Amino acid sequence: MKRRVFVLSQAVAITLIWSCSTHKTVTYNQPSAKNNDIERRTDSVLNLMTLEEKIGQMNQYNGFWEVTGPAPKDGAAAIKYEHLKKGWVGSMLNVLGTKDVRALQKIAVEQSRLHIPIIFGYDVIHGYQTLSPIPLGESASWDLEAIQKSAAIAAEEAAAVGLNWTFAPMVDITRDARWGRVMEGAGEDTFLGSKIAYARVKGFQGENFRDAKTILACTKHFAAYGFAEAGRDYNTVDIGTSTLYNVVLPPFKATVDAGVYTFMNSFNEINGVPSTGSAFLQRDILKGNWGFKGFVVSDWGSMAEMIAHGQAKDGKQAAEIAANGGSDMDMESSVYVEHLAALVREGKVQESYIDDSARRILRTKFELGLFDDPYKYCDEAREKATVGKKEFQDGVLDMAKKSIVLLKNQNDLLPLKKSGQKIALIGALANDKSSPLGSWRGAAKDGSAVSVLEGMQKYPGNQLTFEKGVEVAIGTPVFGSETKINMTDRSEFQKAITAAENADVVVMVLGEIGFQTGEGRSRVNLDLPGLQQELLEAVYKANKNVVLVVNSGRPLILNWADQNIPAIVEAWQLGTQSGNAIAQVLYGDYNPSGKLPMSFPRNVGQLPIYYNHKSTGRPNGGGESVFWSHYGDEKNTPLYPFGYGLSYSKFEYTNLRLSTTSLSDNDRITVSVDVKNTSKIDGKEVVQMYIHDLFGSATRPVRELKGFEMTALKAGETKTVSFDIDKKLLEFYTANNRWETEPGDFTVFIGGNSDATLSANFKYVN
Ligand code: BGC
Repeated sequence: MKRRVFVLSQAVAITLIWSCSTHKTVTYNQPSAKNNDIERRTDSVLNLMTLEEKIGQMNQYNGFWEVTGPAPKDGAAAIKYEHLKKGWVGSMLNVLGTKDVRALQKIAVEQSRLHIPIIFGYDVIHGYQTLSPIPLGESASWDLEAIQKSAAIAAEEAAAVGLNWTFAPMVDITRDARWGRVMEGAGEDTFLGSKIAYARVKGFQGENFRDAKTILACTKHFAAYGFAEAGRDYNTVDIGTSTLYNVVLPPFKATVDAGVYTFMNSFNEINGVPSTGSAFLQRDILKGNWGFKGFVVSDWGSMAEMIAHGQAKDGKQAAEIAANGGSDMDMESSVYVEHLAALVREGKVQESYIDDSARRILRTKFELGLFDDPYKYCDEAREKATVGKKEFQDGVLDMAKKSIVLLKNQNDLLPLKKSGQKIALIGALANDKSSPLGSWRGAAKDGSAVSVLEGMQKYPGNQLTFEKGVEVAIGTPVFGSETKINMTDRSEFQKAITAAENADVVVMVLGEIGFQTGEGRSRVNLDLPGLQQELLEAVYKANKNVVLVVNSGRPLILNWADQNIPAIVEAWQLGTQSGNAIAQVLYGDYNPSGKLPMSFPRNVGQLPIYYNHKSTGRPNGGGESVFWSHYGDEKNTPLYPFGYGLSYSKFEYTNLRLSTTSLSDNDRITVSVDVKNTSKIDGKEVVQMYIHDLFGSATRPVRELKGFEMTALKAGETKTVSFDIDKKLLEFYTANNRWETEPGDFTVFIGGNSDATLSANFKYVN
């Protein structure tokens, strides 16, 4: 029978005619107070759908043709285009700009039988076009408010170009700097990582989707992707129950608590089962125990990759395993759209699983308001007024300054004097306007970052000369291509050395180019790439007053620099405003307060390295014996520990005290410390609290971060900083395979990094 319905927006209500064999009333597309019950509206759509249409919702395609040009006639693009018209596409990724999004949405809502809008996703990892620092850099700020704001800026800019879904935050805990994707997460610590994960979701999603300034977040990669063996991307993961529950899962859970709408599973297998097909992770833990109401998208092609993993024999079996495992949407494997209907008819996948997945996806579309107005995100005037706006530039500059970590500052070489100085700025990265954009740079234009040279030129009181000294990479690395590093060309060395000889102070910007980290960019060497170490040593010979600014997407090995160079600044890849942020820190217009979110190793052989390791049965060397847990040729400790970072101010911690030394249920202990800024410069310090649970049914780490507070202290000022400790804070996933707090002895440490020594003991009794 023929039916008339109103679809699309309240504003642009168009009458369309479609055929339908059902007599059920169509209520989903008429937004009204009466009709605002999302569950009911979702059901009313589901009731109209064929099995193939429901499966279509579970299918996601990459943007596949020049959408504003002619429709594709053959090949894969033509098939996908036909699927779009049939309503067999639930979402698309990598379609950018309101024009293109509108064109595709128009096909979905005007040409498909049920006029269901699609969701548009993109990797907005640290911004769309106006970039914040890479997420690892942002995490060094330990500033949750700033991190939330940075995600909100990214969301607003992305929403203005038609997007309504980002594949972020990545919340994978990682302890191995060889893994290229460390740049994309919050580092090695579960407590800090959980807080940051929560803040990022709140930033992307905001309070609601009403004003189209916010987008769906997607927590990824579920789970344990950061534990790839030997730090090699996509490699096997084999971890025990304690690590899974106590270390890996909490940041994922934090995002569910923050109300995240979507999850992405991961490429890796975990304990023999590829995550994409893991019912244990997706059905039991995520949708079961945690009550997650949103949907899970696979990673790119990860369903089909179960064949290469050696679990599924073909695409059809991959679809069966993924659907039964709880993956709701297939990103670019096409195995759902090809095989799922047959699998249901053969009884290999329950239809109720399909209903559940389709319902989760449709519900999200209702939440976004796409049924009320599918073009809600397609306002060209807003796009023009929003992308790159001044307010965003200010926001990412603020975030960039907060992300910088001062690693060394012997004899207060920094901040630099603002006048009367000859400064030699050396290093190709100092004049690089693309590298600071880092990996996963969204739609940022090449060359759109402020370079360090440009940032320093804004301080005209000094005489500044620039020499690149050496090229880091050969040619321009493009996304997807291997980075070729210069290992031979020293032709510009001498110019740099001469510039150093003639300068009062040398600022060297060395490190990784932007695409040396990120997906598929694992490395076994973590030194300064190419000839940069050699250049550093040559320049240092000419002038000892060297400030080393490190650009990197991961911890690098900086032993020689630490022993010789008086001032070292870790400046990650800081995004669009990078050079301004670095210059303002070098000149003291911003006093650095960043703290490392990952340990910096002394040697690659120490990896994985992390502060919250276990004690082992042989933690200390007794006398001359070699029979204890150590290396014969290197210390166990990192060069710079987790939580470490200096400031132009100096802070002193004294008088750690507890309100009581015995904690019982429904009770709390307040632990306080006095922090004094002993310098003449106002500053901020991240005060950190660590707890060691001395004995447990399962062994506990030597200490764990359990609280932190950003504290502003004027020159000479003292403040008391307090933290509460309650039973919940002490719980862990015990040998009984449940979360509980075990009675026993604890030590609390407070200080400015994970090596904090001020401590006190208490007991938990129940
Ligand atoms: C990455 C994901 C990303 C996806 C879509 C994959 O290769 O692992 O993190 O969201 O591609 O671009």
